[in-house]
Amino acid sequence: MRVLVIGRGGREHAIVWALSKSPKISKLFCAPGNGGIAGLAECVPITELQFEEISTFAKEQAIDLVMVAPDDPLAAGLVDHLESKGIEAFGPRANAAIIEGSKVFMKELLKKYSIPTATYESFDAYEPAIAYLRSQTAPIVIKADGLAAGKGVTVAQTMEEAEAALKDIMVDQVFGKSGASVVIEEFLTGQEMSLLAFVDGSTVRLMVPSQDHKPVFDNDKGPNTGGMGTYSPLPHIPESIVQEALVNIVQPTADAMVKEGRPFKGVLYAGLILTPNGVKTIEFNARFGDPETQVILPRLKTDLLDIFLAINNGTLAEQPIEWSEEAAVCVIVASPGYPGPYPKGLPITGLDQVKDSLVFHAGTAIEDGQIVTNGGRVLGITGIGKDIIEARQKAYADADRIHFDGKHYRTDIAMKALK
Ligand code: AMP
Ligand code: GLY
Repeated sequence: MRVLVIGRGGREHAIVWALSKSPKISKLFCAPGNGGIAGLAECVPITELQFEEISTFAKEQAIDLVMVAPDDPLAAGLVDHLESKGIEAFGPRANAAIIEGSKVFMKELLKKYSIPTATYESFDAYEPAIAYLRSQTAPIVIKADGLAAGKGVTVAQTMEEAEAALKDIMVDQVFGKSGASVVIEEFLTGQEMSLLAFVDGSTVRLMVPSQDHKPVFDNDKGPNTGGMGTYSPLPHIPESIVQEALVNIVQPTADAMVKEGRPFKGVLYAGLILTPNGVKTIEFNARFGDPETQVILPRLKTDLLDIFLAINNGTLAEQPIEWSEEAAVCVIVASPGYPGPYPKGLPITGLDQVKDSLVFHAGTAIEDGQIVTNGGRVLGITGIGKDIIEARQKAYADADRIHFDGKHYRTDIAMKALK
């Protein structure tokens, strides 16, 4: 088969890496890809929202399957566009990807089907929103409705912070249309867990659980990022909690989408929080997580292409899916200044010194044959070992073998599992 993957980050590198092991694939393309993906797939200079260029390329190259990885093209309907041209695509249609694209939609769905989540109110005008906010107490959470590159959520510790966030979203419109509506919700406390699932309408097959680290500095200090590291499994979280999340949250959500006439086909990502009152939903994403994928797919023993095809054929229930018992820890190495402004084009050295880890490129490019930085999150170094301790040691040893000016990473990835 000839397969085209859409996207350019560490997640897409991990997806391309997993697909490159499939004996059924004769040719892999990635649009637009990055400096690391170029070693495994032919990178094509077409970007994620160039729908016409993508479908024309897929026709010309007789592509059998287009795998759409990122949130923006999914929400904007790339899968629908490809299907309308007779091209097979993997990922939810726009009417299902809305579970990530609109937080108001997601919250209303969960309320309607009594699926556990933070209590909330939503507003599409500033005056009633600020009046409601002033009737509440901090800490409180303010969320822009639409996609905002992971920046649309403010966990406000004070009312001043909450009012400022609401004003940014609705008055100053810093997220544009994505802030036309807001969700104001209850602040929840507990450990977070990312639970991703393969979903084919009503069949849900959980992947192995993982945990992300969003703040930029150790001990969860500093501003939020796209994610500074992940690990899997979560030895400190009992299997009963994962089952509770499946039975109370993930399965009922897939069923609700079917009932709403929006069957979800693809990867459904539940962002969960383990509160003293049970597992609750923080968010849903309509895609693989980044950097969760960089620890999940290295543990997958089954051919990823077979799973994608089973989802598209509606045979996910019969598809064998096997996971390795090994542990995986991914440490993100970031550009100086990230998540604020950062330089690009810094030469990266030491990649050939890496011993034991998988190196997934998140933001790199090739300039005159040299791999250089080209994003905030530059590399994800995934160590694999018999347990978290060994996987961590390998990931950090290899992260230290790679250099570029001003590189930084968290030193406490996966420590929650060891306390
Ligand atoms: P999101 O972009 O929806 O993943 O939210 C970003 C982060 O904000 C989450 O990973 C949580 O750490 C935090 N967060 C979101 N909603 C809440 C909530 N209701 N209570 C506490 N923390 C939250
Ligand atoms: N790691 C968080 C996300 O992919 O949204």
